[in-house]
Amino acid sequence: MALERRIAEAADLVTVALDELLPRAEGPESRLTEAMRYAALGPGKRLRTFFAIETGRMFDLDDRPVLRAACALECIQAYSLIHDDLPCMDDDDMRRGRPTVHKAYDEATAVLAGDALQTVAFEILAHPDTHKDGTVRAEMVLRLAQAAGAKGMCGGQMIDMIGVRDDLGAVARMQRLKTGALIAAAFELPLIMAHAGEAERHALMAFAQDLGLAYQIVDDLLDAEGESAVLGKAAGKDAARGKANYVTLLGAAAARERLGLIAQQAKSHLDPFGPRAEFLRASVDFVLERRN
Ligand code: IPE
Ligand code: IPE
Ligand code: MG
Ligand code: MG
Ligand code: MG
Repeated sequence: MALERRIAEAADLVTVALDELLPRAEGPESRLTEAMRYAALGPGKRLRTFFAIETGRMFDLDDRPVLRAACALECIQAYSLIHDDLPCMDDDDMRRGRPTVHKAYDEATAVLAGDALQTVAFEILAHPDTHKDGTVRAEMVLRLAQAAGAKGMCGGQMIDMIGVRDDLGAVARMQRLKTGALIAAAFELPLIMAHAGEAERHALMAFAQDLGLAYQIVDDLLDAEGESAVLGKAAGKDAARGKANYVTLLGAAAARERLGLIAQQAKSHLDPFGPRAEFLRASVDFVLERRN
């Protein structure tokens, strides 16, 4: 239960912080800021926030600056979901238990809300309140940009749109890019703030890589086996759309087997941290057992 409480606390903290960082505008552009708030303040699980905060705590960082990094991550996450749901991409009507942004508003507003959430993420990181040292801020901006861009999330989304056929290696690469890269950034941003040493960075990045892959396999299992009402988004769409992923290629049972191995490997990367990584270790099981 302690883990669930910590995740819920992290979620509350980031939602309050985002509420402040995404003010409403006056005038006609208020439609844009309302759509941004609708997406970013919606009931996401905030697991990237939890990963960032736990990593910060492992390195004795203050929660406050890490929370700003978490806000940046959640803005990128919200933007990626708005665009992922657009008719030209996955064409989904439900997200986080509510109409998607293009359904609640319209497509142009959804595109712009995604764009503006992306830029605000970098505005937050670049602001002196995030870290007093400009070099640290620049490195955080660099890493998040790389994680979100053509060699990260966007690149993975492109591969997803083109489609991968019968090639598990190619699927794993797509998953690492479209989902793993942003999850890895949730660990990397606090590591940068903490001036963590090479060995610790390396171990946590290896953990993040496996966790990111596991995260997307679970998402694909839930798509195949979950219920829309619990997921808060449509189920059963990957197979219907012919999307290649571990589940559509291997079947659910074999995908679950791989997932177990990847999860075990993820945990082994935390060994050097001993009890300091208690909650990150437990979060692997949480990711595996999540129902939405
Ligand atoms: C959904 O991410 C898209 C994937 C990358 C699998 P989450 O499952 O983390 O979605 P929210 O943020 O909790 O809504
Ligand atoms: C999306 O993957 C990953 C992103 C980068 C947004 P999915 O398309 O499987 O995510 P859901 O199932 O719509 O949340
Ligand atoms: Mg998609
Ligand atoms: Mg989708
Ligand atoms: Mg999915």
